[in-house]
Amino acid sequence: MAEPVQTPAAFPRRIFSGIQPSGGITLGNYLGALKRFVEKQNEGIETIYCMVDMHAITVWQDPAKLRHATREGAAAFIAAGIDPARSILFNQSQVSAHAELGWIFNCVARLGWMNRMTQFKDKAGKNAEAASLGLYAYPALMAADIMAYHATHVPVGEDQKQHLELTRDIAMKFNHDYGVEFFPIVEPVIEGAATRVMSLRDGTKKMSKSDPSDQSRINLTDDADTIAAKIRKAKTDADPLPDSLDGLRDRPEARNLVNIYAALAGLTPSQVVAENAGALFGSFKPKLADLAVAHLSPITTEMTRLMQDPAEIDRILGVGADRADAIARPILDRVYDITGMIRSRR
Ligand code: TYM
Repeated sequence: MAEPVQTPAAFPRRIFSGIQPSGGITLGNYLGALKRFVEKQNEGIETIYCMVDMHAITVWQDPAKLRHATREGAAAFIAAGIDPARSILFNQSQVSAHAELGWIFNCVARLGWMNRMTQFKDKAGKNAEAASLGLYAYPALMAADIMAYHATHVPVGEDQKQHLELTRDIAMKFNHDYGVEFFPIVEPVIEGAATRVMSLRDGTKKMSKSDPSDQSRINLTDDADTIAAKIRKAKTDADPLPDSLDGLRDRPEARNLVNIYAALAGLTPSQVVAENAGALFGSFKPKLADLAVAHLSPITTEMTRLMQDPAEIDRILGVGADRADAIARPILDRVYDITGMIRSRR
């Protein structure tokens, strides 16, 4: 028989976040998300991290490449410092609560809300008629990823802010429509110097795994020479660095390199300009390249080592999925009770 509905008033602090295996992990993903996931884990907060393979197929993915990217992403998490014993690390499709709650949320979210999602507009481009229904519904699945764990805090880059606002709207509407206080209202955690790392070729565009130009991004799989060459060739201007951040206001490429430097060095962008005032890019870029290589090379080396044993990565993801399922399943059962679904099998 179904349990009576419980409505917890307060929610313990719990972190959830995810990365799509739709390509390699970029420096943007690393500085905006992964590096901060590790910090949260090390602060002792309960942390749940996911390779969101079901999000990835909202645009076409070659199956073999998807499997590879999922394992490589998991390897990047571990190489960057995620400890699968302390954090839960898994791939989304192994925990069916995501898809099941995603459907319920499709029935809560309103078309008007989805129509405002800028990322859908960007990704669907001019030919929105040919985009998949999944791409349109994607933010409701993202809300389900978070709410399936009653997560309270979600570390992300700036580009996910609107999706987290939608997650709050969906949770509030569910709670309101069913007269419960069942879902927490999530807090976006968008902090640090690199919440929006820009393309190395165009300081007005986000660094992205899907940019056709590999020169526009640093991948966590790039070797030291490639990283150094990409930074050396990064678009900049001819002016020296100013002595305050105000002087970077209309210099997006320069500002981007300063932000990257700050995030890698654990400084604020103001400290970076103060320390490098008057420097030309001819000297600042090699310094940045050295810093990036020193920081990223150990991660790349460890990723390569982990990727030599894909079965071990799959094992880790499986264990993580069991642990994730143990949290999500009882929450989903209560969602079914709240919404009036008969649940007589267990
Ligand atoms: P995705 O896979 O595009 O990116 C993963 C994380 O990296 C951040 N990020 C960046 N941060 C700074 N600068 C950049 N250039 C940059 N590019 C990406 C993203 O903000 C993100 O934090 N919809 C999500 C994945 C997702 C998710 C979730 C996240 C699915 N379900 C639930 C949090 C909670 C996405 O496409 O991220």
